[in-house]
Amino acid sequence: MKLLASLLMSAALAAPAFPALAAGETPKAAKPDLAKGEASYAAVCVACHAADGNSTIAANPKLAQQHPEYLVKQLQEFKSGKRADPVMQGMAAILSEDDMRNVSWWLASQKAKDGFSKDKDLVALGERIYRGGIQDRNIAACAGCHSPNGAGIPAQYPRLSGQHADYTVKQLADFRDGKRGNNAQMRDVAAKLNDREVRAVADYIAGLR
Ligand code: HEC
Ligand code: HEC
Repeated sequence: MKLLASLLMSAALAAPAFPALAAGETPKAAKPDLAKGEASYAAVCVACHAADGNSTIAANPKLAQQHPEYLVKQLQEFKSGKRADPVMQGMAAILSEDDMRNVSWWLASQKAKDGFSKDKDLVALGERIYRGGIQDRNIAACAGCHSPNGAGIPAQYPRLSGQHADYTVKQLADFRDGKRGNNAQMRDVAAKLNDREVRAVADYIAGLR
């Protein structure tokens, strides 16, 4: 008994299993495991978001090269229902916090493919809104938060460039209606845009690079 106790004592002194955290310090999460992320992506997500995260279906967003913190936030909020979507709520429900991090960091490591604008007349209006906003209606320039080339600003402001216009139109409408209730800044921006402006800026974003 005495021997065991002293063995335990010396083991504890040599290698503390749970080092104490300094005041205000939060425990660090483990490094994301890209191989595990790729495996769960290939098992489930690939069917809708394509092998490299560059979905070719307009309703399913491209996810490649997106900021990982933003992706984790979306998956958590699909799971909680703060961002309403019946399909993605079911997908996110089966993911643990670690799964979300692994798959998001793997997606961020994939290369985004360029997209294209379609409507020559609308795209000029879209470019004006994206770059300069609409000052007399207090609509902020999208570029201010999402950057001039649409790459976003990590970790808060998502990448938009090359995204399917149909998907972007739906997000702006969902922000406006409160169906996507996970960001007040975007609700305010979308609330001030009419349908034509939404289509125009979405078309511009599709071709942005
Ligand atoms: C059955 C098709 C389907 C499957 C399978 C699927 N998704 Fe989705 N996903 C969608 C659709 C549709 C949306 C757009 C939802 C909306 O309109 O808001 C979406 C949106 C997302 C978004 C939000 C992207 C953004 O830019 O905000 C993320 C992140 C995402 N999916 C990740 C995943 C992951 C990870 C998996 C696998 C665990 C997965 N999806 C499986 C169809 C699918
Ligand atoms: C004040 C900063 C700000 C401005 C200005 C802004 N955005 Fe955003 N936007 C955000 C933030 C933050 C998010 C992420 C919301 C979240 O966490 O879900 C976002 C998300 C989005 C999304 C969802 C992306 C996705 O993959 O689902 C779209 C689309 C979007 N913004 C388009 C626009 C457009 C178009 C404009 C200009 C008319 C604009 N934004 C102006 C801050 C801004």
